[in-house]
Amino acid sequence: MQVLVVGGGGREHALVWKIAQSPKVTKIYCAPGNAGIAGIATCVNIPADDIGGLKKFALDNGIGLTVVGPELPLTMGIVDSFEKDGLRIFGPNAAVARLEGSKQFAKEIMREAGIPTADFAIFTDAAAAKKYIREKQQPLVVKADGLAAGKGVFPCHTADEAVIAVDRIITQKEFGDAGSVVVIEDFLEGEEASFICFTDGTTVVPLPSSQDHKRIFDNDAGPNTGGMGAYSPAPVVTPEVHERAMETVMKPLVAAFAARGIPFKGIIYAGLMIQNGIPRVLEFNMRMGDPETQPILFRLESDLVELMEGAIDGRLAQIDVQCDPRPAVCVVMAAKGYPDKYDKGSAILGLDDAAQIPDTFVFHAGTALKDGCVVTSGGRVLGVTARGATIQDAVASAYGAVKRIGWDGVQYRKDIAQRAFGR
Ligand code: AMP
Ligand code: GLY
Repeated sequence: MQVLVVGGGGREHALVWKIAQSPKVTKIYCAPGNAGIAGIATCVNIPADDIGGLKKFALDNGIGLTVVGPELPLTMGIVDSFEKDGLRIFGPNAAVARLEGSKQFAKEIMREAGIPTADFAIFTDAAAAKKYIREKQQPLVVKADGLAAGKGVFPCHTADEAVIAVDRIITQKEFGDAGSVVVIEDFLEGEEASFICFTDGTTVVPLPSSQDHKRIFDNDAGPNTGGMGAYSPAPVVTPEVHERAMETVMKPLVAAFAARGIPFKGIIYAGLMIQNGIPRVLEFNMRMGDPETQPILFRLESDLVELMEGAIDGRLAQIDVQCDPRPAVCVVMAAKGYPDKYDKGSAILGLDDAAQIPDTFVFHAGTALKDGCVVTSGGRVLGVTARGATIQDAVASAYGAVKRIGWDGVQYRKDIAQRAFGR
């Protein structure tokens, strides 16, 4: 079977790397891909949100399965569009992808299904939102409703900060239409984890737990990013928390869509805040996490293509997920300036040297080939991923490889997975 993977980040490199190990797969294309993906797949120069272009490519090239990495094409309806032409595609339809595309919709579904989440209110009017803020106990979190590349969320310590956030979203329209609605929710304390599952609309099959590192600097300082590193498993997801997340989040969510008669298949990624063993949902994503995918797929022993086809065909109840018990970690190496405006085009040195370290793999994110040389072309550039007998061993291997790689202005966190050390 020929597979098309949509996207070109670190998550997509990990997806392509894992899909290439499936005995079912004869050839992989990736649109648009990156310099690392080009080593295992044929990269096609079609942007991830060009649904018409991607569909034409899939039809013309006999693609047997399309796998969508990022959220934008999903919320734009790529799955509905491909299925209309009889193409097999792994991911949620637009009606389900709204869970990620609209925080208001996600909160309303959670309220309806009794899924634990922060209390909230919804506003389209700045004055009404500010009145609510002045009457509420702080801290609050102010969020733009729509997709904002992780930037539309403002944790606020004081009412004044929350009022400024409302103005940035509604009045100044910093996030365009994504900010025509704001969600204001109570601030939840605890430790975060990413809980990612496959579903076919009936059965929910969990992948190993993981934890992302959202802030740019060590000790969770500085602004939020797409994610500066991740590890799996996350010890905060104890067997009891896992069971609670399945029973109070995953199963009620799938049942809520079944009750509405909406077919639900693909990934459910719940961003959880866990306090005293109780998981509450911060957000739903309808795709794999980046960089969580890198350590998770490093540990997954099962055939990923079999899992994806099982979700499409409603056979997940018959599929068992096998995992390497050894922990894995991914350290993101980013360009100078990220998450703001960043440098591009720096030559990356040391990749061959880093590849010598056993049980380690360098996934590419924002990389490109220029005159036969790998150069930086995005904010997050590489995801250096390793496994080990213990999380400390995995971390030592990953940073061993990181130290062999360099370019002008490279930045990375030095404390990825340290939270897991003490457990
Ligand atoms: P979201 O995109 O909604 O997951 O928000 C991005 C990040 O903001 C999360 O990963 C949390 O670190 C933080 N966050 C979001 N909502 C809350 C909340 N209600 N309480 C505390 N932190 C939050
Ligand atoms: N790492 C966070 C995300 O993929 O949304």
